[in-house]
Amino acid sequence: MNILVLGSGGREHTITWQLSQSKHSPKLFVAPGNAGTAKIATNIPIGVNDFDAIKAATLENNIDMVVVGPEDPLVNGVHDYYLNDQEIKHIPVLGPQKAAAELEGSKEFAKKFMMRHGIPTAAYQSFSAETLSEGYSFLETLNAPYVLKADGLAAGKGVLILNDLNEAKRELKTMLVDEKFGSASTTVVIEEFLSGIELSVFVLTDGKGYKVLPTAKDYKRIGEDDTGLNTGGMGAISPVPFADKEFMNKIHDQIVKPTVEGLKTDNLPYKGFIFIGLIKVGDDPKVIEYNVRMGDPETEVVMPRIKTDLVELFQAVADQKLDEIDLELDNRTAATVMLVSGGYPEAYQKGKEMKGFDAIEDSLVFHAGTKIDGDKVVTDGGRVMAITSFGDNFEQALEVSYKNIHNITFDGMNYRKDIGFDL
Ligand code: AMP
Ligand code: GLY
Repeated sequence: MNILVLGSGGREHTITWQLSQSKHSPKLFVAPGNAGTAKIATNIPIGVNDFDAIKAATLENNIDMVVVGPEDPLVNGVHDYYLNDQEIKHIPVLGPQKAAAELEGSKEFAKKFMMRHGIPTAAYQSFSAETLSEGYSFLETLNAPYVLKADGLAAGKGVLILNDLNEAKRELKTMLVDEKFGSASTTVVIEEFLSGIELSVFVLTDGKGYKVLPTAKDYKRIGEDDTGLNTGGMGAISPVPFADKEFMNKIHDQIVKPTVEGLKTDNLPYKGFIFIGLIKVGDDPKVIEYNVRMGDPETEVVMPRIKTDLVELFQAVADQKLDEIDLELDNRTAATVMLVSGGYPEAYQKGKEMKGFDAIEDSLVFHAGTKIDGDKVVTDGGRVMAITSFGDNFEQALEVSYKNIHNITFDGMNYRKDIGFDL
């Protein structure tokens, strides 16, 4: 079986690595991939949004299944592109069709979906440039902090949380009128601030049934104690210790089940991962956001805990036979620490030679922003490499990752030394 994975980050290296462990020994291709995927698969140097080139690579390499890593191609309709093309329509694509990918592509769409299906989330209203003054009035009815969200995809930067009413009004205008996030902020969702601890739940659905995958918590800020700028994610742990049975039952009954049922009711075809970002308010879960893909670096802790053969799991999604599969999980805790380039998430340099990661034995090394340069591996992004380890608890798992990180070097290397500090 030939499988093509779209993407180039730690998430895609992890998925590809897990597929490579399958007893079905699939032949793996990654577009465009990184230095890590190059070792276990064939990298194809094409972009994830170049659908014509992806089709050509699919035909040339006799691809039997496509697994989509990032949200962009899903929101742009890569799954629909396959379904609408006679030559490739029979090839299963893991990832929702465009209409359902709007759960991530439009915050307003996601909010309306949750309202329609009674899924707990923050109260909200949405505004456009024409309704700016109503937006101001709505802000005046709320208490600080104020949460402003660009409706569309904004590379993880589209959410602003502001303490001052006047600043919130100024930012609302900048988003709507000055197009701070381009067309992504033509509409802005203003919502009630929710106070609590965050976690993420991952669901794999075939559009009929579903499996709830392990929970994870990621650490988004660059600085220790959750300070400084937001990043794509500096580390993660799975499972989340406070997500006990009772809380998970609430998540299941109030959120996961109505989400999958809602997709069916609304005729939104969905075969793929649903990433539900949650916040625990008091004892109750509320949805902060949906993503239509796995998280990164959450994948680096969730995937290694899945013991079920990943090829069989994905094939069951394609065949809508998920209900016939047993999901077997590793009960240990997994933790990952992300190594990042100096300066990230602001300006940083690329092309720094990396050493020491090849010798690591008791952790899993997942490449993110790396590439091969001659006989060297060099940095090629802000988030460079995730080091995942197992333990009986997250402290133990982290200890192994941190010990191994000491063997890795590259110019400017930075990482958070306090993953799990809030648990
Ligand atoms: P998002 O881009 O939707 O993941 O939002 C980024 C971050 O903003 C989330 O991870 C939360 O930490 C925070 N956030 C989003 N919505 C809210 C809310 N309604 N109340 C409190 N924090 C929020
Ligand atoms: N780690 C957050 C995300 O993947 O969106």
